[in-house]
Amino acid sequence: MLYGKIYGLKVTSLRLTNTYGPRMRIKDARQTFLGWWIRQVIEGEEIQVYGTGKQIRDFNFVDDVVDAMLRAAVEPKAIGEVYNLGGEPIGLADLAKLLIECNGTGSFRIVPFPREREVIDIGDYYGSYEKIRTHLGREPKVPLKDGLKRTLDYYKKFFTLLHLKRKMIVMIPQASPLSQFLSYKQEILEAIEKVLDSGQYILGPEVQAFEQEFAQFVGVRFGVGVASGTDALHLALRAVDVGPSDEVITVPHTAVATVAAIEMCGATPVLVDIDLDTYTLSPHRLETVITSRTKAIIPVHLYGHPADMEPILEIARRHHVFVIEDCAQAHGAMYQGKRMGSFGDLAAFSFYPTKNLGAIGDGGILVTDDPTLAEKVKLLRQYGWRQRYISEIPGWNSRLDEIQAAILRVKLRHLQEDNQRRRLLAEIYNQLLVNAPVVLPKERPGSCHSYHQYVIRHPQREELRAFLKKRGISTLVHYPRPIHLQPAYKGRLGDVGSFPNSEQAAREVLSLPLYPEMDEATVHTVAQAIIEYLEGKEK
Ligand SMILES: Cc1ncc(COP(=O)(O)O)c(C=O)c1O
Repeated sequence: MLYGKIYGLKVTSLRLTNTYGPRMRIKDARQTFLGWWIRQVIEGEEIQVYGTGKQIRDFNFVDDVVDAMLRAAVEPKAIGEVYNLGGEPIGLADLAKLLIECNGTGSFRIVPFPREREVIDIGDYYGSYEKIRTHLGREPKVPLKDGLKRTLDYYKKFFTLLHLKRKMIVMIPQASPLSQFLSYKQEILEAIEKVLDSGQYILGPEVQAFEQEFAQFVGVRFGVGVASGTDALHLALRAVDVGPSDEVITVPHTAVATVAAIEMCGATPVLVDIDLDTYTLSPHRLETVITSRTKAIIPVHLYGHPADMEPILEIARRHHVFVIEDCAQAHGAMYQGKRMGSFGDLAAFSFYPTKNLGAIGDGGILVTDDPTLAEKVKLLRQYGWRQRYISEIPGWNSRLDEIQAAILRVKLRHLQEDNQRRRLLAEIYNQLLVNAPVVLPKERPGSCHSYHQYVIRHPQREELRAFLKKRGISTLVHYPRPIHLQPAYKGRLGDVGSFPNSEQAAREVLSLPLYPEMDEATVHTVAQAIIEYLEGKEK
């Protein structure tokens, strides 16, 4: 009113009651207590309703307030008028209940006013909007329930982002697919846009190109993109006709997917212990478990270290069994100058986002030099079709999609450089920890480790891990239980003590932070924290 007089403006006054909605103040109850309640309910705290819970207030969703303002601004007959902008009235306890219902969870408590406050309790307080309704045709459009839901949605997203941001600043991650996305963001977005514009989203030109490029990278002739690493293993086993009467040999210290794929064929997994230096299948023990039912061997190049392929292949050939490499962690790793995936009859790769070559979602590929096997896998991944809608053999749906293939093509261009960076960071860890009483990863002569994980061993692994966590360093354990001791397989594939090396690895291994975008200073921070922990133990 005053400004109107000073500047000669035409004025309409709107008297607002509680306005709420996205971007309202939620830090405290200064704008309206509803903001504070919204924060409490999202953070899982109990809402405290002061008074009897029966006092009535009314609420206007921010869009309805803006609507009223616009109507008043454009309507000449509103000039000089004063309008109340009452909203939807509701008792406070009912409001708390509605808010909890909209949030899906929460609780509230009625807290009586202390005696001295009772005298200043204003009781019911709500306005009418009758005048503005009749003058300007303004009717609130957003019911309280919808408005509360929209406000809660907004703040839930806001808190998630805030939480992530804080976590990223404070904690050193163990792996960071996000950093990798950010490194290649422009290229990735362009690749995705190209696919979106093409209108072809499944098994199109991107998948075909990626299959060729990846096969070439590995050094074999054929690649067949599938939906995951687990599917790649499963289809590889199917391609060599593994079925219920067969045994397939692998290790207990691996991702559960390796064994799950064998059981998906109805075959029996047979486990053989690992070599503790490289965490891969021990060839010395291999021959002792081969039987007339053995159909295939799956060596796993765990953490990016190649299994000892020469003796494994020699034994396999002698016994006429197939070799399927589990390369889920070994993109770009090498053995005697050749890339992993080029040794077995078939090899399976996973593109889980944290892998050395990771999709932004799930994905996998099978590679082989054998045209017949490649053809069979192609049939298996899509209902046994060579020709659309004609199933030559029983198959599944396990397709790699175009968007993932396009992303993988971008990342494949950087894989060698990323792997070199992993190796450099691993070397820095090695140098910094050389005198520390922990077991460091080894690289067998003639092998090139791709350091999917940098794994150390320590008998007090859990204590070390907790110490590092307190220092803001995330670590992981790959894997805390060998397969034969997992609840799902217990008693079927071995007992406690059956595979001592695998069991020791499961007790002691710790995967330190390692990803190509990590800087050298962070490696120093992690190594220094480990040294401090170990020095503390010596005292
Ligand atoms: C050794 C190993 N084998 C198989 C798999 C299965 O791959 P995916 O998760 O893509 O199904 C993984 C990945 O988790 C793995 O690390």
